[in-house]
Amino acid sequence: MVLSDKTIVLGVTGSIAAYKAADLASKLTQAGAKVEVIMTEAATEFVTPLTFRSITGRPVVTKMFELASEYSVEHVALAEAADIVVIAPATANTIAKLAAGIADDMLGCTVLATEAPVVIAPAMNVNMYQNKVTQENLDKLKARGFTFVGPGYGRLACGDMGLGRLVDVDEILGAVCQVLGRKGDLADKRVVVTAGGTQEPVDPVRCLTNRSSGKMGYALAEAARDRGAEVVLVTAPCALGKPYGVEVVDVATAEEMYGAVKKAVAKADVLVMAAAVADYRPVTVSKSKIKRQQAVSLSLELERTPDILGQVKGKFLRVGFAAESDNLVANARQKLKDKHLDLIVANDITTPGCGIGADANQVVIIDPSGKAEKLPLLPKKEVADRILDRVAKMLAKKR
Ligand code: C5P
Repeated sequence: MVLSDKTIVLGVTGSIAAYKAADLASKLTQAGAKVEVIMTEAATEFVTPLTFRSITGRPVVTKMFELASEYSVEHVALAEAADIVVIAPATANTIAKLAAGIADDMLGCTVLATEAPVVIAPAMNVNMYQNKVTQENLDKLKARGFTFVGPGYGRLACGDMGLGRLVDVDEILGAVCQVLGRKGDLADKRVVVTAGGTQEPVDPVRCLTNRSSGKMGYALAEAARDRGAEVVLVTAPCALGKPYGVEVVDVATAEEMYGAVKKAVAKADVLVMAAAVADYRPVTVSKSKIKRQQAVSLSLELERTPDILGQVKGKFLRVGFAAESDNLVANARQKLKDKHLDLIVANDITTPGCGIGADANQVVIIDPSGKAEKLPLLPKKEVADRILDRVAKMLAKKR
């Protein structure tokens, strides 16, 4: 949401990773941003301006003095229009020029003239990156408030292994969203989110778990980050990539999640329990793998796990989820009352195409007055923002 209607100046410089900037431009455009691409001359040797023009639907700036071209912009126009400037990939050369304040091309001019925040994703050879002069330039720019994302470790174009790879596009997107949202309605708030389905071991290879994908919790963590919050994500194992700019605590069992949540809520303003926590676990965990036996049945004795939301209390707001298969609103209201919650988000797991594992969710948000707000079927990212709209309002009232 934080990207929609924003003007993003995307600087692309002369690295082999320039082709990855096309994916970044595409994702930013799809998220509703107006993407103005500026390419350095070297960048045009790797990717054509037409690539970016086709993706963004906008003219691409390559030369400062191209007055005859169909698209010419005044040299500081983009600097003034930008909500954020993102340079990805950024070469050692561009970083050095920016650190020195050189404005001999359109990108240099724009960065020197803009008051918008600048995010830089470096990409270069490991020795160039580790060279003292590059490190000094990075330090200079960091001290001036520029945000750096990466570089990552891995195989570099020159064949070397080391630091210097452009980080994944999703990580750059995460950094852009975080920087754009830092003055949002959850600025200075600490939000703890749980996600995923816990795993209760049966033996060294088997466990009891559920089909939770973690998508709702991860969407909440990212949405809170994009509204300025400091976010701790306590996550059970799931296939999703770790969100950028969020403190991630990995756990497996309900007991581990309980311990991690107790620790994370110190100084928290909000706890959102989106995790699907196992209610029962095996009483004993076999040390060796349980073998197939003659008997046709096998019983596992189960015991209750700690009710995290029921037991973790404090001055922070507590938001629970209720995945129900019947009497949705009545059951959720009862849970809200039993656990003394500030908000409960209920979803009917029998509705096809939503809830567990899906990308969309249809939920009812219920507050302690019993009032139920039924939302339409929405992508989980939007559901997350609608929940956080309510959380932000409650926090403002509390203050
Ligand atoms: O009672 P039920 O399991 O449906 O409650 C759902 C809510 O309680 C969810 O927010 C879930 O994360 C939380 N929960 C918990 N500890 C458990 C079970 C559920 O915190 N052991």
